[in-house]
Amino acid sequence: EVVDGGGHVLLPGLVDLHVHLREPGREDAETIASGSAAAAAGGFTAVFAMPNTDPVADTALVCDHVWRRGQEVGLVDVHPVGAVTVGQKGERLAEMGIMAAGEARVRIFSDDGFCVSDPLVMRRALEYASGLGALIAQHAEDPRLTCGACAHEGPTAARLGLTGWPRSAEDSIVARDAILARDANARVHICHVSTAGSVSVLRWAKEQGIAITAEVTPHHLLLDDSRLEDYDPVYKVNPPLREESDVAVLRRALADGVIDAVATDHAPHAAHDKDREFALARPGMLGLETSLPIILETMLRPGLLDWRGVARAMSEKPAQIAGLADHGRPIAVGEPANLVVVDPDFEWTVRGSELASIATNTPFEGMRLRGRAAATLLRGRITARDGQAARQEERSWT
Ligand code: NCD
Ligand code: ZN
Ligand code: ZN
Repeated sequence: EVVDGGGHVLLPGLVDLHVHLREPGREDAETIASGSAAAAAGGFTAVFAMPNTDPVADTALVCDHVWRRGQEVGLVDVHPVGAVTVGQKGERLAEMGIMAAGEARVRIFSDDGFCVSDPLVMRRALEYASGLGALIAQHAEDPRLTCGACAHEGPTAARLGLTGWPRSAEDSIVARDAILARDANARVHICHVSTAGSVSVLRWAKEQGIAITAEVTPHHLLLDDSRLEDYDPVYKVNPPLREESDVAVLRRALADGVIDAVATDHAPHAAHDKDREFALARPGMLGLETSLPIILETMLRPGLLDWRGVARAMSEKPAQIAGLADHGRPIAVGEPANLVVVDPDFEWTVRGSELASIATNTPFEGMRLRGRAAATLLRGRITARDGQAARQEERSWT
């Protein structure tokens, strides 16, 4: 329920289906501790950490480590997403059943960063996941339709000579996976939808009763490919920023529920990987601390979503997609809950250097944003206040 508390708005704790916390392996960009602080500051009480770590989270050992480390930090529940294939770009399926049975109770599997492009591997993965009651989250990009190192497409990109990731590479995988999921009697989730074509396919698939869900990022709801004018690598991301017309379609699809959820695809990168020649820079953007105000800006204030809709897209739907309700105990009456108190009118200027993330690669640097989490509560404990994660002693409050 949404409660108006004298200008503040009480929402269920936000849930992010798609983050990269870089631990283990790239602790110079982000750690589970720093990423958890960013999540709590942004109003999140649960995040799903993608498996493209080093080592890859393709075993229960790595997944359980990520889960335990998140619990030790205590700011947000860090649910590991297991890899679909061994080593993440392979042909051999990872032991999803063992990861699902481990302490982390892994329920989402993905090769995010790489598409599960081989249709037979995808079909077998869907069948395996379906038997486990688990979900495959697809990074939708057919690599056979992409070319070059620059993952960008659109009029600005074309003028700059940046070739790479055409819409067809995304749209065709969404269509293929919808049909494979239908025939495998499985659920499939599409990560970071960016094109009007994907939206058409999603609408069609849902009308057929196919168990497909999808997420959109805050940056794809706000930014378009005109940002690429100066080759600024901060705007390099997978999938690429598209055209204004796609942005309008994505907003409408989120409002209509054709796209189910907002997910940040929080992708921290160390400066030496990001601040370099466009073609060589890593793709990805920070997102956890700016997601809520961007959704208020792009969806709430234009009247596309009301507060109820914001709660649905940023908390209820992602929790439902992830099957969070059956993990641990359901919240009973009188039991401490996961909540975020939103101050919708608080104005602030984004400074990458002031964010809790170790990396600073925010595409919203210098932007004035309105709204933030005034307080985040994880099982009744305050994990952040006024955009700052709680200190260790505050976390032990009950
Ligand atoms: C992600 C990353 O950096 O791990 N990058 C990105 O541009 N989104 C990978 C991904 O989500 O595909
Ligand atoms: Zn991806
Ligand atoms: Zn990602």
